[in-house]
Amino acid sequence: MGLKQKDLLSMRELSAEEITLILDTAESMKEVSTRDIKKVPTLRGKTVINLFYEPSTRTRTSFEIAGKRLSADVVNIATEKSSVVKGETLRDTGKTLMAMNPDVVVIRHPAPGAPRILAETLSASIINAGDGAHEHPTQALLDLFTIRERKGRLEGLSGVIVGDILHSRVARSNIHGMRKMGMSVRLAGPATLLPRFIDQLGVEVFTDLEEAIKGVDVIMMLRIQLERQGRTFFPSLREYSRLFGLNLERLKRAREDILIMHPGPINRGVEIAPEVADGPYSLILDQVSNGVAVRMALLYLLMGGAS
Ligand code: CP
Repeated sequence: MGLKQKDLLSMRELSAEEITLILDTAESMKEVSTRDIKKVPTLRGKTVINLFYEPSTRTRTSFEIAGKRLSADVVNIATEKSSVVKGETLRDTGKTLMAMNPDVVVIRHPAPGAPRILAETLSASIINAGDGAHEHPTQALLDLFTIRERKGRLEGLSGVIVGDILHSRVARSNIHGMRKMGMSVRLAGPATLLPRFIDQLGVEVFTDLEEAIKGVDVIMMLRIQLERQGRTFFPSLREYSRLFGLNLERLKRAREDILIMHPGPINRGVEIAPEVADGPYSLILDQVSNGVAVRMALLYLLMGGAS
């Protein structure tokens, strides 16, 4: 079985079977990264373009490593050094790149829907690496992979996503992904950072972090996205940290086998205390490692591979 769709634009559009296929394929891909020679010829002759209109460390690097471990040719475009700064539109940039015949274009863009515009314009497969506050599907897939790796399953587990839900594409993609895979989902944060009607996605909403973390299997902390906030949503960072920061004291209210996650980059001492981020329950670096395996799986499956 392979993936039927040309593109990966959102978790909302993936079925539970397709998510399971991607996670299962990522398990095989993970083994490649443990070898002395971390390279297989699977995608030899294929071309992947990374087109990032926003900063990224984890996503851009792991797509590059993923492509290279599968022997694809990977080209990174730094938009601040490209003709984008001369006013070229997204469609024109896309058509220009398409004239060089890539097989996959990975795009990160501040505008929600930008990856879909490229997908409708280009015959290459488009992967959404984060579009505004809309979705970040590959992050949700690596998060699900990381939880399944630790717990052996997803069905029946519970998770709470904490913080700046309003501006978070990671939260939106994880809500869709976790719900599809049979997890129950809570959201917690200040009322000003919880979108209206979000409960219609089948989640429970909390404004008290200590209540929200009781009994759940996974706590996923989110970064406060100051760069997306045009106005003030809480009195001060200190106040936010006091009410919604995850520290060792607060962690005592969580299960003994709790898993702590964060998509990164973290604001140390704001949403997460350093002792928690670097502590024994933290999966933050596992998430980064698993990002390579999951993105290898996606490149392979979107270029016609089957499990
Ligand atoms: N989690 C994530 O998307 O990180 P980067 O912005 O570093 O890619």
